[in-house]
Amino acid sequence: MRYPLEVFNAVRAAVPREMTVGVRISATDWVEGGWDIEQSVRFGHELKRLGCDFIHVSSGGLSPAQQIPVGPGYQIEFAERIRKETGLPTIGVGLITEAQQAEEILQSGQADMIGLARAMLYDPRWPWHAAAELGDQVFAPPQYWRSQPHEYKTLFGNTRLGQR
Ligand SMILES: Cc1cc2nc3c(=O)[nH]c(=O)nc-3n(C[C@H](O)[C@H](O)[C@H](O)COP(=O)(O)O)c2cc1C
Repeated sequence: MRYPLEVFNAVRAAVPREMTVGVRISATDWVEGGWDIEQSVRFGHELKRLGCDFIHVSSGGLSPAQQIPVGPGYQIEFAERIRKETGLPTIGVGLITEAQQAEEILQSGQADMIGLARAMLYDPRWPWHAAAELGDQVFAPPQYWRSQPHEYKTLFGNTRLGQR
């Protein structure tokens, strides 16, 4: 971890203090004898010591020997461990596809923030749909107000169309 710590130090020194700087890691190689979550936790402690603001926890495809248990939220346990053991805020990713699933990760304290990639490629309006399902609101420009589904009357906030 000497090299990424050196890079982090250089970046932190170059970026104004009022801007957050975080690191995205591959938490495990999923290979016997490779980089693993224990080392990621240790790495997280070192990053925190150097002033890292958050850690974004993923994992990568590196070796044909990998056995990856791909399934809903399969990397979240790593974000959770790093968060609990280092106290660093974490971003969790990896097959988060449902609004309720995302909310549970946040509410149960497994991660401070979640990220989506493939689900957003499939449905770029995912955050709107999640907000609707969870009873929250989103900002929509006036041109979109007529598209608000009937069952989500407050999704776009206190909007009014003409006299209605
Ligand atoms: C084919 C593929 C290869 C990936 N390789 C890496 C990688 O090398 N390193 C890494 O940190 N994340 C890797 N990821 C994870 C993505 O960068 C990203 O975190 C993830 O796709 C987000 O989760 P989601 O797409 O399931 O929402 C990979 C994802 C896919 C689908």
